[in-house]
Amino acid sequence: MDQDIRQHTCVFGLSWGDEGKGKIVDLLCPAFDLVVRFNGGANAGHTVCVGDDTFALHLLPSGVLHQRITSVIGPGVVVDPTQLLLEIDNLSARGIDVSDRLRISDRAHLVLPYHKLEDQLSEQAAGKNNKIGTTARGIGPCYADKMKRKTALRFCDLMGDEQFETRVRTQIAARMRLFQALFDHEGDVSADEVIADLQAARSRLAPMVCDTTDLLHRAMDEGRSMLFEGANGMLLDVDHGTYPFVTSSSPGPHGIGAGAGVPPSCVTRLVGVTKAYATRVGSGPFVSELDNKIGDQIRRQGKEFGTTTGRPRRCGWFDAVSCRYTARISGVTDIALMHLDTLSGFDEIGLCTAYCIDQQTVATPPADARLLERAQPVIEWLPGWREDLRTLRHYEDLPGNARRYLDRIESLLGAPVSIVGVGPERSQTLVRDRFRDILNIHQSTTV
Ligand code: IMP
Repeated sequence: MDQDIRQHTCVFGLSWGDEGKGKIVDLLCPAFDLVVRFNGGANAGHTVCVGDDTFALHLLPSGVLHQRITSVIGPGVVVDPTQLLLEIDNLSARGIDVSDRLRISDRAHLVLPYHKLEDQLSEQAAGKNNKIGTTARGIGPCYADKMKRKTALRFCDLMGDEQFETRVRTQIAARMRLFQALFDHEGDVSADEVIADLQAARSRLAPMVCDTTDLLHRAMDEGRSMLFEGANGMLLDVDHGTYPFVTSSSPGPHGIGAGAGVPPSCVTRLVGVTKAYATRVGSGPFVSELDNKIGDQIRRQGKEFGTTTGRPRRCGWFDAVSCRYTARISGVTDIALMHLDTLSGFDEIGLCTAYCIDQQTVATPPADARLLERAQPVIEWLPGWREDLRTLRHYEDLPGNARRYLDRIESLLGAPVSIVGVGPERSQTLVRDRFRDILNIHQSTTV
């Protein structure tokens, strides 16, 4: 295949996660040799539907469903080894063996039971307005340890440090004292059980652990193509998102350098995924939220319940202010707009084009979450459509009002909508001409 067509690509979320990235990664996989995760951990939830089968993945890159592809978990991912084994075993029970095509960075940090416990305890202890609404997967505490440097443990430690078990025991004892002092927590994490689980993880994962940075550079030298899979979404970015209601990593393409060890400049196709409306799980400001019957209807029609936690997702109109912001930060080259079918049946559809904060209209989100909480959405109304879009297979067949809606989003975000999702299955994806080359489809828009 032509190397230009197979330019290194990143698929990432422009919103608060749950945009449908797993489906896009799965769709694009056949054009790539490697799929790489570079951020986050088991907080991510990717649902991929293949025929009648649905796969819910958290830590594993969506690429693992493709036999030919090497899936890589990069240095920037925080990995709960027990959860990883669980996902590997779940796939294996369904006849998919990933052990020979999964590679885990020896630089990746370990999420251990005390990280998850701290995540839960600190959320319980936080006042109503200070809860982040985390996934309780230990993400924040693990990244905090990583940044503190003295207390963190990585895969290379699990594999090679003779002092590893002593270090784990020391950490567990120290955390228990800390949790007692901070949260009045009396329970214990059993060091023996943690060590036994880690020993099992060591022996089973050892063949998959390696220097993935070198692996990726050699792959590039050999002309192999890479697809980077951003977990979570850019509005949850620790630097650019709705801080402090964010996750602890960099989910956009700018996270690739740090999280995969590859120069981001070599990743030239940047596919930003978002839904045709907005959703958010967890706490934090959500200016275009619809806390009413319309929001309920979107949640029902879109089946908006979290993959990782099962929580009902908050729903609202498409927020062009925050998406334009993440589109600019990421330099998105193509937008994948998912769940357009969910909006069928509304007389009018709202688009949030600006925020009104304390009588001032602003076109970019402010840094301060308290200001965002006070913001009112400025809504532009567009006519809706009644047609069921789920059976459509060509972009050109979309009803006129649906196309006008997409045109407006393109002009507000300043980037082309190249892919449109009209249902959960691979086949329910409309691909526009400019994007067909990557799928090696020359005759038809159907995939
Ligand atoms: P954490 O990443 O578990 O610490 O959670 C921090 C915030 O990010 C919470 O509001 C979570 O609900 C949210 N979050 C983290 N990962 C995802 C995701 O993949 N999809 C949606 N929300 C997420």
